[in-house]
Amino acid sequence: MVRAMSARNQTDRTDGQEPGSDARTHFGFRDVAEAEKAPLVKGIFQSVAGRYDLMNDLMSGGIHRLWKAAMVDWLDPRPGIRLLDAAGGTADIALKVRDRLAGHGDKTDGRSRILVCDLTPEMLEIGRDRALDRGVFDGIDWICGDAQRLPLQDSSVSAYTIAFGLRNVTRIDQALEEARRVLKPGGRFLCLEFSRVVQPLFSALYDRYSFQVLPAMGAAIAGDREAYVYLAESIRRFPPQDELAAKMTRAGLSQVRYRNLSGGIAAIHSGWRV
Ligand SMILES: C[S@@+](CC[C@H](N)C(=O)[O-])C[C@H]1O[C@@H](n2cnc3c(N)ncnc32)[C@H](O)[C@@H]1O
Repeated sequence: MVRAMSARNQTDRTDGQEPGSDARTHFGFRDVAEAEKAPLVKGIFQSVAGRYDLMNDLMSGGIHRLWKAAMVDWLDPRPGIRLLDAAGGTADIALKVRDRLAGHGDKTDGRSRILVCDLTPEMLEIGRDRALDRGVFDGIDWICGDAQRLPLQDSSVSAYTIAFGLRNVTRIDQALEEARRVLKPGGRFLCLEFSRVVQPLFSALYDRYSFQVLPAMGAAIAGDREAYVYLAESIRRFPPQDELAAKMTRAGLSQVRYRNLSGGIAAIHSGWRV
């Protein structure tokens, strides 16, 4: 059984890398010390949390909902699942999975557990409020933590999802290894993330949209232009489809496959712990 901590009364495991490390990484197009990245990422999501869901709908014209539904379709959750939704933010995936389980007759009988883990307490608080507004009082646990150092036991979940989260972690390889560690043998890994557009003509249009329109929308609606500059830049720094698949395999996941969504704007990667 997974253990949850309250977002407020947590041990802080979210403040970056080992002290003294001089390793470097990227934050969007900026080169930063590894230890700086998690606080910078957390700052972004603290800043936009209140407008995060609205921005997703406006930026994508609602398409992010279809992408998330496609990941939940591929997961095909069944009663009895123990799901960790890492970087689960405002709980879109958790609530979708719960709705799907309810469709299978599993509402709150305690057979299924969903754990939402995120670095940013403000995102979790919005997720928790959304769940309460929908009358969801149990079946979902909330934990503030880092996907690179999950406060979970080995082999403790039967499924691991991460939607638009892996791009933000400092060490992707470490997060993938953590995913494998917490999955039970036979457990499923699914990642939904922005990826590489496959059509060159479309790619040029998409670049203009990402670097010109998104930051302007971020400034006007979320009051944070830089957060949406980071979004556009971080997408370009994230490994393309085949590279991410290779990383998953190196992390010990098996039967790795992916599906492109909307011409590769996003992709869902699937793997199994055998
Ligand atoms: C773009 S949001 C995605 C939220 C949600 N999964 C969704 O699809 O709407 C990215 C989330 O990743 C979280 N995050 C970033 N780095 C993280 C890390 N190292 N560990 C856990 N969560 C992280 C952020 O706090 C933020 O809530």
